[in-house]
Amino acid sequence: MEVVRSVAAWRALRANWGTGVEIGFVPTMGYLHAGHLSLVQMARAAHARVVVSIFVNPLQFGPSEDLAAYPRDEARDLTLLELSGVDAVFLPSPAEMYPPDFATGVTLSGPLVERLEGARRPGHFAGVATVVTKLFGIVGPSHAYFGQKDAQQLAVVRRFVADLALPVEIVAGPIIREPDGLALSSRNVYLTPPQRAAATVLRRALAAGRFASDTGMHDAKSMLAAMRAVIAAEPLATLDYVDVVDPATFVPRDHGGPGSLLVLVAQVGKPRLLDNYLWRADGTWDTGSVAEEGHA
Ligand code: PAF
Repeated sequence: MEVVRSVAAWRALRANWGTGVEIGFVPTMGYLHAGHLSLVQMARAAHARVVVSIFVNPLQFGPSEDLAAYPRDEARDLTLLELSGVDAVFLPSPAEMYPPDFATGVTLSGPLVERLEGARRPGHFAGVATVVTKLFGIVGPSHAYFGQKDAQQLAVVRRFVADLALPVEIVAGPIIREPDGLALSSRNVYLTPPQRAAATVLRRALAAGRFASDTGMHDAKSMLAAMRAVIAAEPLATLDYVDVVDPATFVPRDHGGPGSLLVLVAQVGKPRLLDNYLWRADGTWDTGSVAEEGHA
C-alpha cells in the first residue's frame, strides 16, 4: 500500500498505474471504524484500484466545533487500510490542501443545505462540497463511496456532482451498527459508559417511528410523536431534531411511505449523534447492518 502526502506524489503514482485504470475512492477523516471499512470492501469488490483519503477538513468545522480535538490515529488507520487491501492512501496536510493563496469554494443553496444539519452547522456543507470536489479533482475516481449515516451529506454530494457534471458515480453504503443498534461513528469515542448505554435510544426511537407507520399511522405527525416520546424517556439524551423528509432534497414530507427518510439527531453527552432509517422507493426499509465481529 502506498501512502502519499502531496498532490505531486499522488500524480506520480497515478501515472505509474497507467491510463484506463478504474479507481474506487473512499474519502474519510480517519479514525476508521467498520463503517468506513465496509465502504472500502464495497470499493475493493468493484474496482481495479482502491484509494482512501484521510484528511480532517478544517473548512467543514464551525468555530465552536471539535476540529482540534477530533480523534486521530494515523498508524492504526494505515494498518486497517493495509489489511483491507487498499492500494493507496492520500494523506495531505491542511497546507497541501489549502495553500495561502487558496480562494475557491463550492456552495449550494436551498433546503438541502439550509435545513437540519445545514441550519445547525452554517458553512459545514460548503466545507464538505469544497473538499470533496478538490479530492475528486486530485484522485480522479470513477466511483466514490459515502455512508448512509450522514444522509444529508450524501444528498449534498449527489446534488453537486449532478449540478457540476462531475464524472464520478456516487455509491452509498449502509449504516453499520454495533450489535445493540448504535450507529458507528468516530465521535462515539467521546461517550462515557452510561452515555454509551443511553445512546441506543436513537435506534429505539427510529424503530418506534417505523412501528407507528407499520401499524397504520403513516402521517409524519404520528411518526414524529412516536420518535420524540422515546427520546424524551431517556434522561441522558437531548433531542436536537427529528423529521420525515425526501431523501434527495430534505424537504419535509407530510406522510411517510416509500421514498422517505426518518432522520434523527440527539445530543448524548458531548457528541451529537446522527441516525436515520430509509424507506426505499420499492417499499423496503434500509435500517443498516450490524458490524461483523472483530472489525474495527
Ligand atoms: O464524512 C466525512 O468523513 C467527511 O465529511 C468527508 C466526506 C470525508 C469530507 O471531509
